Amino acid sequence: MGSIPKFAHVVFQTGRLEQMRDWYCDLLEGHAVYQGHGLCFVTFDDEHHRVAFMQPPVPMDPKAPTAAGMHHTAYTFDDLDALLERYTSLKDKGIEPAVPIQHGVTTSLYYRDPDGNFVELQVDNFEAADDATAYMEGEEYDQDPVGVSFSPDLMIAERRSGVPAEQLQTRKWALTTTPDLPNPLTVLTS
Ligand SMILES: [Fe+2]
Repeated sequence: MGSIPKFAHVVFQTGRLEQMRDWYCDLLEGHAVYQGHGLCFVTFDDEHHRVAFMQPPVPMDPKAPTAAGMHHTAYTFDDLDALLERYTSLKDKGIEPAVPIQHGVTTSLYYRDPDGNFVELQVDNFEAADDATAYMEGEEYDQDPVGVSFSPDLMIAERRSGVPAEQLQTRKWALTTTPDLPNPLTVLTS
């Protein structure tokens, strides 16, 4: 059996390196390990760099919502409380999700970075990968693999009042508490 490579990092080409650096450092509670020559490397864990930025010495075209290419990067938290804690600390800094989505398999918050790239902060709804796979092969997922939006503030309030995380990390909870939120796919494709 061959060795399995590990995903290492993502690099964004940008015309606003400092702004992107600061935004991702806030989002990921990271720090820059190197900056110079139009490059900046950021880490937030045991890797020497996870997110990097390069600013070529030419003007950059803004990202068109219809441009082909990567749609979003994603970061997984250990549990719902950790995700909601980050949501709150980011909100305090004025960084709010473009759209929260209950995917069924994950509970996700999609943010838009200063260049318009989406970043997903998520938590797995199933502890075992096999259970997540089984869900993705099931009826509910087949009917709607994107899922529905939800209110993180309501989720925090219910969590504080003692509702178990497993109950909140469901499509059923999202649909029961906020049945009238717009289709999240419209945000993800705009
Ligand atoms: Fe994703």
